[in-house]
Formats: sequence, structure tokens, C-alpha cells
Amino acid sequence: MAAGVLTGLGGCGTKIGITGMAESGAAMSAASSADSEENTITVGFAQVGEESDWRRANSVSIKETFTSKNGCRLLFDDAQNEPEKQITAIANFVQQGVDYIVLEPIVETGWDTVLSDAKAAGIPVIVADRMIEVEDESLYAAWVGSDCLLEGRKVCEWLHSYAESEDIDPSELKIVNIQGTLGSTPQIDRDLALTEAAEKYGWTLLGAERGEFTQAKGRETMAQFLIDFPELNVVYCDNDNEAYGAIEAIEEAGRTCGSNIEAGEIMILSFDATSGGLRYVLDGTISCDAECNPLHGPRIEEIIRELEAGREPERLQYVAEGLYVHDDTVETVEVDGKSYPAHVVTEELIGNRVY
Ligand code: AHR
Repeated sequence: MAAGVLTGLGGCGTKIGITGMAESGAAMSAASSADSEENTITVGFAQVGEESDWRRANSVSIKETFTSKNGCRLLFDDAQNEPEKQITAIANFVQQGVDYIVLEPIVETGWDTVLSDAKAAGIPVIVADRMIEVEDESLYAAWVGSDCLLEGRKVCEWLHSYAESEDIDPSELKIVNIQGTLGSTPQIDRDLALTEAAEKYGWTLLGAERGEFTQAKGRETMAQFLIDFPELNVVYCDNDNEAYGAIEAIEEAGRTCGSNIEAGEIMILSFDATSGGLRYVLDGTISCDAECNPLHGPRIEEIIRELEAGREPERLQYVAEGLYVHDDTVETVEVDGKSYPAHVVTEELIGNRVY
């Protein structure tokens, strides 16, 4: 492992380039580059793909954090949403003997073998964004990301309260679910929140189909839902890009998106709350959007800093996230006895959004 980096100051590798003052020019630069090599932290980063605006913002956050200026060498692998490719990427990082592996897993399962190899090679693994299911929890040092079940429950509680205040009978909520990548944490947890709430409140769940977290697939799936279930009035999209595709399909079919389902509008619920999603919330096209924050670069850096200092980082680090809505019909939602504000979106709020 690289020695002497991440000393608790500005970025990775604050000791880089510190050499003896008496050295002459050439010797100094040779020593300096040897020191640099020795002090550089090599991070192998296994990214999901490029399926969404969220993911692109996440990749930027990683690349801006793990720079050579910060004493890091980033090996960035894009698995193009193929779990097998992502396993191969981790195996390659182990072979290359990187200092740390950061994994943002496509799906939760299938990690035991390759992460055991990383452990045997003494390479700490940090999991970010989505979660993994492994037999041996010591296969990773820490996890940082979103509470996707909480996100889903907030959106469902908002829908429940909204329907109540508008006197809409629960069974009149006819919902379709455009699902993210099957087996990924946000798909599993957001959709679990929906099925739980549908059962609890008596909503009608018409269907659930894959949208792969992409705009193109979201549009295709929505177009088919409109044919199969012309009575639908709520679309629960697993992310903003699926929502954009759904909006296109709904408008192409001559229907209107909005919260007034009694007047024939189709209500869109979404996740991520990217600036694009929030713009749709502002104009009422999306009714409610739960934040999923992608800016994990500095959070992962902090975990590496802890490990470099010989400390044990907090094992599960959940990021605090907001709920964003078009109007003030529902001011707060309650999940597990805790109250969360529903923020009405404004131009100012969108202006301050960095992703
Ligand atoms: O894992 C985070 C999810 O994956 C985001 O909701 C989605 O946009 C991304 O593709």
C-alpha cells in the first residue's frame, strides 16, 4: 500500500513531491518522481455504466476527487451495465495490485469469490452507491450510499397523503411501475416500498416492467403500458431518466402528465431529483421526486483517509436526502415515526443543484 498519503489535509497525497532541499536539479526530479510513485494511491474504481444523468454526475464526482494532483491514480472501469464485466474489472484490479478497490455494484449478488480474492491480496474494498449481499461481511471495509427503501417509502407516503387530501379513493390509484435494473439495490428497495404501500393502502398495482434506468427503455415500457392499461393514472419510475422517457410516451399518446388524475392527468413519481428532474417538478410534469445523491467522490476519499490513518471507518454510511414536490398539498411525510419535509421546488433550488 502507498505510504504517507492522505495525511488528513486537503486531498489525497499531501506528502507528494517533498524531497531533500540539498539535492541538485536532475537528482531532485528523479527522487521527486520516485517519491511521487511511492506516495501515490492507486484506486481501482468499478463503475456501473452510463445509464443515467445520475451516473454521469457520479462519475464526474469520482474523477474530480481521485486526481494526480490529489496524489491518486484512478483506474476507472465502466462495466456498461454488465455484471460479468464488472466482476472481471475487480479481478483485473486485484491482479494489478491496486491500493484500494471501490465498487459501485450493478447488482447485489455474485461478489463472494472475487471479493475474497481481493481480501486474500490484502486490498481493501469500499462499496458505494448500491449494496452487495455477501456471506462474509468482512469482504468490504465500508459502504456509503442512499437509503433506497427510505426514498421509496417517502414517495409512497406522499402519494398516500396527497390522495387523502384530494379525496381520492385508494383503489382508484391505478399504478404502473417502470423498474430499474433488476437485482440492483434501488430497484429492489424502491419497488419493495411500492408493493408494501399498495398492500397497506389498497392501491391497484397494474403492472411492473423493466426500464433499466434509461430514458429509451422507460419510453418503450411506458408506451406498452398505455396500450395494456389505458386506465392507469400513476407511474412510479425508478429514476429520472425513466421518467423522461415515460413523459415522452405519455405526451406522444396525447395524454397529459400532472397531479390532477381526476381530470385525466397521469401522475409521475420519480427518484434522483437531478436538476432535470426538478425542472419537471417545478412545471408540474413530475409530481414528486425523491433525491438520490450521486456526489460520492469526497465521501469515498474520506473513507480511504480513515483507512490510511489506521482507523475503522463507520461501516454503513447513509447520505441524508430530500423529497421534492410540485405544490404544498402535503407538507411533510412520516416514515417509521420520523417526519420528513416535502420541499416545494423553486427556480432558486434548481439553480443551486450541482447535478
Ligand atoms: O444506484 C443509483 C441509481 O442508479 C440512480 O437512481 C439511477 O439514476 C442510477 O442509474
